[in-house]
Amino acid sequence: MPISYQSETRTFQLDTAHTSYILRVYDGGYLFHEYWGRRLRPVDLTRLHRAYGSGFSPNWPGAPDREHSLDLFPAEYPVYGGGDYRAPALEAAFPDGSRLLDLQYVSHTIRPDKPALPGLPSLDGGDGTLEITLADPTNGLKAVVSYTVYEDSDVIARHARIVNDTGETVRVNRALSASVDLPSMDYDMIGLYGAHTRERQVERVPLRHGMQALESRRGASSHQMNPFLALAAPNADETTGEVYGLTLIYSGNFIASAEVDSFNVTRVQIGLNPFDFSWKLEPGETFTAPEAVLTYSAEGLGRMSRNFHRVFRGHLGRVKETVRPNPIVINNWEATYFDFDEEKLCALIESCKGLGIDTFVLDDGWFGHRNDDTTSLGDWFINRKKLPRGLKPVIDCCHANGMNFGLWFEPEMVSEDSELYRAHPDWAIKKEGRPFCTGRDQLVLDLSRPEVVAYLKETIGGILAENDIFYVKWDMNRHITDQYSAGLPADRQPELLHRYMLGLYSLLDDLTSRFPQVIFEGCSGGGGRFDAGLLYYMPQVWTSDDSDAIERLKIQAGTSMVYPPRCMTAHVSAVPNHQVRRVTPFRTRGLVAMSASFGYELNPLSLSGEERAAIAEQTACYRRVNNLVAAGDFYRLASPFEGDAAAGADDAAWMFVSPDRSRAFAVYVRRLTTPAGPARVIRLQGLDPDAVYHIDELDGDFGGDELMYAGLATPYFMADFEALSFTLTRRV
Ligand code: GLA
Repeated sequence: MPISYQSETRTFQLDTAHTSYILRVYDGGYLFHEYWGRRLRPVDLTRLHRAYGSGFSPNWPGAPDREHSLDLFPAEYPVYGGGDYRAPALEAAFPDGSRLLDLQYVSHTIRPDKPALPGLPSLDGGDGTLEITLADPTNGLKAVVSYTVYEDSDVIARHARIVNDTGETVRVNRALSASVDLPSMDYDMIGLYGAHTRERQVERVPLRHGMQALESRRGASSHQMNPFLALAAPNADETTGEVYGLTLIYSGNFIASAEVDSFNVTRVQIGLNPFDFSWKLEPGETFTAPEAVLTYSAEGLGRMSRNFHRVFRGHLGRVKETVRPNPIVINNWEATYFDFDEEKLCALIESCKGLGIDTFVLDDGWFGHRNDDTTSLGDWFINRKKLPRGLKPVIDCCHANGMNFGLWFEPEMVSEDSELYRAHPDWAIKKEGRPFCTGRDQLVLDLSRPEVVAYLKETIGGILAENDIFYVKWDMNRHITDQYSAGLPADRQPELLHRYMLGLYSLLDDLTSRFPQVIFEGCSGGGGRFDAGLLYYMPQVWTSDDSDAIERLKIQAGTSMVYPPRCMTAHVSAVPNHQVRRVTPFRTRGLVAMSASFGYELNPLSLSGEERAAIAEQTACYRRVNNLVAAGDFYRLASPFEGDAAAGADDAAWMFVSPDRSRAFAVYVRRLTTPAGPARVIRLQGLDPDAVYHIDELDGDFGGDELMYAGLATPYFMADFEALSFTLTRRV
C-alpha cells in the first residue's frame, strides 16, 4: 500500500513511483502539510515545521507558545477565522451570522479502492485512498479531505466533502478541492490563457508576493483560461527541473491560485471558483467539491504532462476507451456552412470514396428552420426544407460509401426564434422583466432545472435511438450571463452555476451510458471547454475553431501541457485558411492534424487529383501511427512559443513513443524560413539509447543514443511552413 500512517508522529505518507506527499496531525489536532516532492524513505519531518515567532500572527486557542500560529504553519485544508490570513480552502456561514471555523483531526481511513464522487466526473481506480475527517470542535461542521494515489503516473487526486452535522442550515461559500503550502516562492507560475480561436497559450511568469490567480467566471472552463496551474523552478524546462502541476476535473467556474506570504511560503490552490457561489447545506447533507489532479515532476514540464496524460488515459471515464483506433472524420462545416441539402451532402459523401475517411459528420443547420445562426436551437427535429426525407438517406449514403455517420448538436442552448423558447421562455437563464444579453443570438438553457435536463435526455436521446449515429459533436457556443434561474428560490440563486454543471453531467452520464457505442466529441466554439470534466464523457474535443496549421502549433502544444494529444480533434482544412487566410502546404496541415484525433474540414469536391492522392496517403499514414498517437508517450521537442526566425529556429517539433520504445513518430514544422540560417538540430527524446532505429523517411539506421544526445539535422527549407515527419522502428 503506497499510503502509510505512523501513529507516534501522526504522520501520513503517500508514495508514488517517484514522489512523496506527507501530512501530519499536529498537537492540538491541526492537519499540517509537511512535504511534497521527490520520493523519500519513511521519515519524520517534525523538525522542519515552520514556526518562527512573528508579530501580528495570532496564536491559536491554547497554543503552547507565541510561535504557534496558523498564519505560520503549512496548512493542508485551511479555514477562515482562526488566524491564518492566507486564502482559505473552506469558508462557511452559520445561522447566527458567524463565519468562524476551526478544523481539527477526528479520524482517518485508508482503503484500497476509490469511491466515485456523486454527480461529478472523477478518476477511477488508483492504488489506495486516504480520507481524513476534520471537524470544528464547537459547531461540528465536518470536512472530509480525500487523497487517492496513482503510483505509476506520480499523481495524487484530491477532493473534499463538506458534511453538515451541525443540526442547522449552513452556507458553504467556498470549498476548494486542494490547497498545498510549499516552503519556497522560487517558482515560475505557468498558466494557459487564450481566446476564441487562440486557446491555451502558455504563459510563464515568476511568482511575486501576494495573490495571483487564474480563473473563469464564465460558467464554463473557457477559452480564456484553462483550469490548470503549474509551478516550475526557474531553471525547469521540458526535460529538467522541478514542476508541480494541478488541474481540476470540472467544466465550470474555477480558480487556480498561488499566494506568496511574507515568509516566502507559496500556497497553491485549485477548486470551484468561490466567485458568485454559495451553497445552502441543510442538516445531514454533504457538499462534494470536484476532484483536483496533482502531480510533481523532477524532470521538467515534459514529465508533468506525461503524468497527466497517463493518469487520464488510464483512469478518466471515456478517455480510457480511446486506446483503440480513432475514426477519421470529415466534417461539412467549413465545406458548406449552413448551405446544404440532401443532394449536396450525398455528393460530398460520395466524393470521399477512396480517400480513407471513415466517418462523415453533419454539422450545424440540419434542424428546426436553421439557415443561419440566429434561429432554432432547442428544436431538435429535422429541417424538412433541407432534408425532406430526414437523416436516413444521408446515413444510408454514408453506409453505401463505407462510412459512419455523425451529427452536430448544441443541446445546452436555445434561440429566441424557436418553438422551445416560445413554449418555455423561463427555461433560459435570465431574469424575467430585465433586458438580457445574447451571445451568437442565443440564450443558455437552465440546466439547473431537472425538467430541462429531462427534456434534453428525451429529445437528444430520441434522435440517437432512432438513427444509426456513430459520432456526436456536442457544441456550446456562448458563455452564461444574466445568472438567474426561474427554478431556484432566492437563497439558492448563487448555486445556479454549479447546479448547471451537475445538470450537464447528469445529461452526459445518461446519454453516454444509454448509447455507449457513440463517440462524443466536445466543442465550445472550438476549445472553450477543454477540461478533464468534459473529457470524462467526451474523449475528444474540437481543439479550436482556428484550423490553421501554424496557429494550431501553439494551441496544440499548450493543450498538450495537460491533456493527451489523442483528446484533441484536429482537421486538415482548405487554404487560404478560413480564420487567418494563411496558405500552408497540404503536408504540413496533415502532419499537424495527424498528431491528434485526425480528420478533414473541407470540400473534397473542390480538390485537385493531387490533393486527393495526398489525402489517401495521409489517412493511410494516420492508420499506421494512430496507436502511437493514442497510447504513446508524448514529448515536446521544440516550442512554438520560443521560435526565433533569425536563428533559423522559428519552429515546433514533437514526438510520440510507444510504451515499449520500439516505435516512434516525430514531426518537425518550420514556420518562417530564413536565408543562410544555422543548421537546426533537433534532439529526440524517450527512445532506448541502446537500440538502433530505422527511420523510414531517411531510409537509414540510427542509434537511440545518437538521436537523443546528438540529434537529427533538419534540411534547409526554401519556403515557409514546411514540415517533415520521422517514422522510427526499432531494429535491434
Ligand atoms: C462552432 C464550432 C464549429 C461549428 C459551428 C457551427 O463555432 O466550433 O466547429 O460547429 O459552431 O455553428
